[in-house]
Amino acid sequence: MKDSFGREIDYLRLSVTDRCNLRCIYCMGEEGVEWKPHGEMLSFEELERLCVLFAALGIQKIKITGGEPLVKKGVVPFIMRVRRIPGITDVTLTTNGVLLEDYLDDLAAAGVSSVNVSLDSLDRLVFQKLSGRDAFDRVSAAIHAAIRKNFRVKINAALLRGLNDEGIEDFALFARDNGVCVRFIELMPLGAASAYEMVSSGEVLQKVSRVIKDLAPTGERQGNGPAVYYTSPGMKGKIGFIGAMSSCFCTTCNRLRLDCLGRLKPCLSSGLSRDLKALVRGGADDAALKEAIRETARLKPEAHIFADRTNAALRGTAMFKIGG
Ligand code: 5AD
Ligand code: SF4
Repeated sequence: MKDSFGREIDYLRLSVTDRCNLRCIYCMGEEGVEWKPHGEMLSFEELERLCVLFAALGIQKIKITGGEPLVKKGVVPFIMRVRRIPGITDVTLTTNGVLLEDYLDDLAAAGVSSVNVSLDSLDRLVFQKLSGRDAFDRVSAAIHAAIRKNFRVKINAALLRGLNDEGIEDFALFARDNGVCVRFIELMPLGAASAYEMVSSGEVLQKVSRVIKDLAPTGERQGNGPAVYYTSPGMKGKIGFIGAMSSCFCTTCNRLRLDCLGRLKPCLSSGLSRDLKALVRGGADDAALKEAIRETARLKPEAHIFADRTNAALRGTAMFKIGG
């Protein structure tokens, strides 16, 4: 499936819930989510039907996100079913890691070989300050267990100036000493996040270069993401930069996003969406659903609009609503 700028769309980020067991200050904050009855979210059966249609349209890779996907009961069996859909080559998970350790064996059995763990600090107290919960030890244990069990592990750290940027070097050393990829994310001004200042990838690279010598770009494009990667001969792992704000990776964008309420979004920064839940529950047949998906892909903008901090679509949202 191609969008109107000729980009091949083969990647779907699928949010299974907007609930979360952390309260990151730049995402949900302490107020958490507005409680919605489960019935308002797409059921796993409905999601599975849509995944089959997405696969028929050329989606090959699916990332399960949230909120926190592992707080949703039944998510691992769902992943197992999605993994088996013809045409789907890759199902991965983005998690905050709090519940991950207990699910690792099931995930491996479900055919998941790669996990993205969101972790904004390697310092217990800073982690607690940013995430609102004292869960660092559990996340850390899960990351080490995932490494032992041979998962490909990516750690995603969103940086907030003055709050966790002191920990950049620690993350770099962690990537050097463990076979993981640490990716630094420039904070995007979505909802609560707009109150904080991001740290640019260029600045982070400078800091990292002070503790890791001979750092050089790997030139590869890993997974589906917009990250650029660096490594050095002495490193077991890698360091990635997601310059969401300072660089525009939109020309290679390959994704659609389905939120847990069944709205298909052409772009993270876009206020547009297509209500697939209304179609599914209104009795739409497969052909009508596929056409709605194709139409949404055609709505993908050429580039994001994060530079426009007054944009209403950005102010009124947050990552847990869209799917991280
Ligand atoms: N900008 C950048 N990253 C964000 N995340 C959540 N909100 C934002 C934002 N405004 C990240 C989390 C996590 C992933 C799911 O999304 O830090 O790594
Ligand atoms: Fe939860 Fe992720 Fe939002 Fe933190 S950033 S509150 S872990 S959804």
